[in-house]
Amino acid sequence: MSNDGKRFAGKTAVVTGGASGIGLAILRRLLAESAAVVCADVDPERLRTVEAEFESDSILCVQTDVTKEREIEELVRSAVGRFGVLDCAFNAAGASRPGYLVDLTEEAWDYTVDLCLKGVFLCMKHQARQMLAQGAGGAIVNIASLNAHVPMHAGAAYASAKAGVEMLTRNGALEWTDQGVRVNAVLPGLVQTPLTRRHFGNPEALAAFKARIPLGRPAQPEEIAGPALFLASEDATYVSGASLLVDGAWAVSGYPDMRPFRGTPKWRAGSEIA
Ligand SMILES: NC(=O)c1ccc[n+]([C@@H]2O[C@H](COP(=O)([O-])OP(=O)(O)OC[C@H]3O[C@@H](n4cnc5c(N)ncnc54)[C@H](O)[C@@H]3O)[C@@H](O)[C@H]2O)c1
Repeated sequence: MSNDGKRFAGKTAVVTGGASGIGLAILRRLLAESAAVVCADVDPERLRTVEAEFESDSILCVQTDVTKEREIEELVRSAVGRFGVLDCAFNAAGASRPGYLVDLTEEAWDYTVDLCLKGVFLCMKHQARQMLAQGAGGAIVNIASLNAHVPMHAGAAYASAKAGVEMLTRNGALEWTDQGVRVNAVLPGLVQTPLTRRHFGNPEALAAFKARIPLGRPAQPEEIAGPALFLASEDATYVSGASLLVDGAWAVSGYPDMRPFRGTPKWRAGSEIA
């Protein structure tokens, strides 16, 4: 996948979850298109790997936990301190602790929803404050999921959070588009990243996914990065509040039954499990 244009020359972008998977593919593509990029991730080891790979004046790595408001404020301050301005933000940090609804602990729910939903809210809040204060517009792209529309077994917390991200995106668009800050979401289907290692390590599970994806294969992270950059680019100046499905047409066929690969719920009526 290539774009030899320089659509982001002179622009500064923040990428959360930028040290792995989809975020890293976005970061690579932004650098290739001449942006200055701030890579925010909670994982210091992954950040060191990014720093070592890119050794460039155009990149700044900032260890950030997106569930902590003070760390996000510091992230935005660091971005502006180093590059002077914030033009674009890609909110890709995410993960989940799965569990059937009857088994799901409060801790697992809080982990997933805090990271995938509250984290995006906090990032949007401080990214938009900076862009609005600058007065020159901006673009925020949130990485939601096909699961914003389609539930999955043992995935209630994740799917609920991602549905929330879609509504946060629309709400941001409602509040800021008149000031030139566009907000959009990308809804990926199955993408081969460390997050989905479990599925890729299980040939039967992978076959069940592929059977439901009309394109017949999962995506590579670069195939999500392209559409994400489009939404932040000058090619999308009239796009705000949109959800872009990037799923190989999976949404039209629905999710596979994942129960054979997740096992059965542990809780039984009359059992003692909390
Ligand atoms: N891989 C898929 O199939 C898929 C599908 C749909 C949506 N998504 C979404 O895409 C986004 C990126 O996922 P990925 O597949 O690239 O996963 P990934 O695990 O490769 O990358 C996620 C990154 O987020 C970072 N992160 C985790 N918690 C964080 C926190 N509290 N603060 C800051 N960073 C944190 C991790 O360290 C990691 O580097 C996620 O929001 C995910 O939900 C992924």
